[in-house]
Amino acid sequence: MAANTTPAQTFPHDFIWGFATASFQIEGSTNVDGRGKSIWDDFSKIPGKTQDGKDGDVATDSYNRWKEDIELLAEYGVKSYRFSIAWSRIIPLGGRNDPVNQKGIEFYSKFIDALLAKGIIPFVTLYHWDLPQALHDRYGGWLNKEEIVKDYVNYAKICYESFGDRVKHWLTMNEPWCVSILGYGRGVFAPGRCSDRARSPEGDSSTEPYIVAHSVILAHAYAVKLYRDQFKSQQHGEIGITLNGDWAMPYDNSPENVAAAQRALDFAIGECIYADPVYLGHYPESMRMILGDRLPVFTPEELVVVKGSSDFYGMNTYTTNLCKAGGDDIFQGYVDYTFTRPDGTQLGNQAHSGWLQDYAPGFRSLLNYLYKRYKLPIYVTENGFSVKDESMKPMPHVLHDEERVHYFRGTTSSLRAAMFEDGVDVKAYFPWSLLDNFEWADGYITRFGLTYVDYDTQKRYPKDSAKFLTQVSYRSCPCR
Ligand code: NOJ
Repeated sequence: MAANTTPAQTFPHDFIWGFATASFQIEGSTNVDGRGKSIWDDFSKIPGKTQDGKDGDVATDSYNRWKEDIELLAEYGVKSYRFSIAWSRIIPLGGRNDPVNQKGIEFYSKFIDALLAKGIIPFVTLYHWDLPQALHDRYGGWLNKEEIVKDYVNYAKICYESFGDRVKHWLTMNEPWCVSILGYGRGVFAPGRCSDRARSPEGDSSTEPYIVAHSVILAHAYAVKLYRDQFKSQQHGEIGITLNGDWAMPYDNSPENVAAAQRALDFAIGECIYADPVYLGHYPESMRMILGDRLPVFTPEELVVVKGSSDFYGMNTYTTNLCKAGGDDIFQGYVDYTFTRPDGTQLGNQAHSGWLQDYAPGFRSLLNYLYKRYKLPIYVTENGFSVKDESMKPMPHVLHDEERVHYFRGTTSSLRAAMFEDGVDVKAYFPWSLLDNFEWADGYITRFGLTYVDYDTQKRYPKDSAKFLTQVSYRSCPCR
């Protein structure tokens, strides 16, 4: 496509764009209408687990303010909304023999109806980290493959039966790398399990993250199989997984740092630990070399179900890392990350989140890399920026989030370049997030919203970045 084509006019008619959120980060009302506890309920209340000592009990109060949220989406003119279902609202105790909570089903059902009434396509994540606490207590949650796979598939079945007549886009799991490594390796996310020895190359004996990863892949794959076998022919939807992953560049041209960047892509960033089994049917070689027999093996029957178990590539991406060989972190495949180039300059603007800088070319490179490697259409299901010290900024200054506008100007132009100059088949783009919200271990200090939330009043205020995306970047997009 000619480079001078007006970019906003070039999106295909069926291109999906919208905003994303997740149940525990926005809903609040953790104790109403029969919802059971999730592993984040109590974890976020343990002193020191969140930066500001706050939990998810209220969040952005979206369980009560859902109509307001839908109005906002309609005002922004989005085509779709990505949100997640809280497993413990549907089955409070989580298991296949536990009672189903009709009130939970009614809540999401009326929500989906209201979205559709405004012409907004529901894009639904089944699992965004809020495992029912009861399953963790009963048998160790994700550590118990036999039980959790059956319980997750049962939960997915209830969702297909209850919402599948209206939901045509399903994501089984969100960022399972965070579930396994941050929840069971580093211990910074619920359920907070970790091995002190996991950071030492000699002494490392941590197996839990890989057991969990294995269970998550199987739960995903069997839920997809169920959908394809029993629901797809009537419901005509599509289903897949969404994975986190950031672009990795060598710190310099030395062979060990070039190899480290590839290892980071393979190993540490969450793409290949999940993507290679799901799309290619095996773990990457570098992981097998480093992890040896700690990496569980798929049985031949499991492999048949796992390989090819996603209709598309679901991609959450935020930044780019410069990679150096070394360090003591097995979860990154012994790769050290930095944002500082050899000449001392920074890759881009620093976000509030320490792990995030604004470097748009990396977004284009990652799209190309994933498309070439997995050869499937890509849905960008998250992409966003937390402005430094945004929580400290007064109104109305806080609404002028130039750094976030800069970020989205860059990523949307990289998106167009990847699509129209490089030929990458991208079908959707969901900035994170519709609202400021509960940012897990950061509590409410870190804000990713394109809409500012005043947590004292719960009032929502569009930031300039929301205006940029809705009025400038997508203004004449035919996909609206
Ligand atoms: C990815 C996660 O899916 C989401 O829950 C989180 O808030 C964002 N990254 C920002 O860290």
